[in-house]
Amino acid sequence: PREKGWITTFIYQYQGFWYSPQILSSVLACQDHFQAQDTDVLLITAPKSGTTCPHNLVHFLESQLYFEQVIPNLASFTSPRLFATHLPYHLLPMSVKDSGCKLVYLCRNPKDTFVSFWHFANKIRSKGTGEIPLEECLDAFCRGTSPFGLYWDHVQGYYKASSEMPERVLFLRYEDLKEDPHVHVKRLADFLGCPLGKQELMDGTLDGILKMCSFDSLSALEVNKSGELSIGIGTNWFFRKGEVGDWLNYLSVEMGERIDRVMQEKMHGSGLKL
Ligand code: A3P
Repeated sequence: PREKGWITTFIYQYQGFWYSPQILSSVLACQDHFQAQDTDVLLITAPKSGTTCPHNLVHFLESQLYFEQVIPNLASFTSPRLFATHLPYHLLPMSVKDSGCKLVYLCRNPKDTFVSFWHFANKIRSKGTGEIPLEECLDAFCRGTSPFGLYWDHVQGYYKASSEMPERVLFLRYEDLKEDPHVHVKRLADFLGCPLGKQELMDGTLDGILKMCSFDSLSALEVNKSGELSIGIGTNWFFRKGEVGDWLNYLSVEMGERIDRVMQEKMHGSGLKL
């Protein structure tokens, strides 16, 4: 099946999730050819949940490596390799599931994720095509016909995996990271097997990490101010506000209620609160 897309003319459904034709090719290449190593770490998000890092350090599987080449040469990557992806859990390459590599899933509340996506889609679509109507974009988001498919299915796939395999899948929330970064970065360090000891907590190592990863520091890096990804997107487009609750500035009460209804329907009984 295909549907109208915002960024490309059409998007196509593959195994329950939606992709532009270009990204779908690289998703397939990645599924066929990516060989995970036990020491790999994958940072996974639904689009616009805060994946952004300097892309030269954290290579994106389907929108960078397998977008540029069907079989990219990963020989120069030193271990532990760090990759980012938006792939839904059930579409991960088999080697990821079969290996002992670790998955870090970052989830953001759907309303801010949607508003961030709407801004991003407006930026990257062809010039002169006018602003995407917010209502239409929301309709696609709620039906799941926006890039990488239904947000709630994406989140649930990893939430379930993190409950079943907590040693392999860490489920983090954007809002928790913003509210209490010390606690959650410590959790991340523990999960990755490099716990922060008393020394690192006392000597400013943790504070240094938090400062480096802050919105202000990352967005000020030259690579994120003037870089361009191979898919033709400026790296600065990934940094807008980086705030919790910005949706209040964009969504009407009815729009917020629509998201709440889908959320209730989709998350009912999952034990996950977003
Ligand atoms: P906003 O559009 O709400 O500002 P992604 O990297 O998955 O494309 O997500 C981009 C969103 O994450 C943007 O949200 C961006 O500002 C936010 N973001 C990126 N880096 C961040 C950081 N270090 N801290 C907080 N938010 C960040």
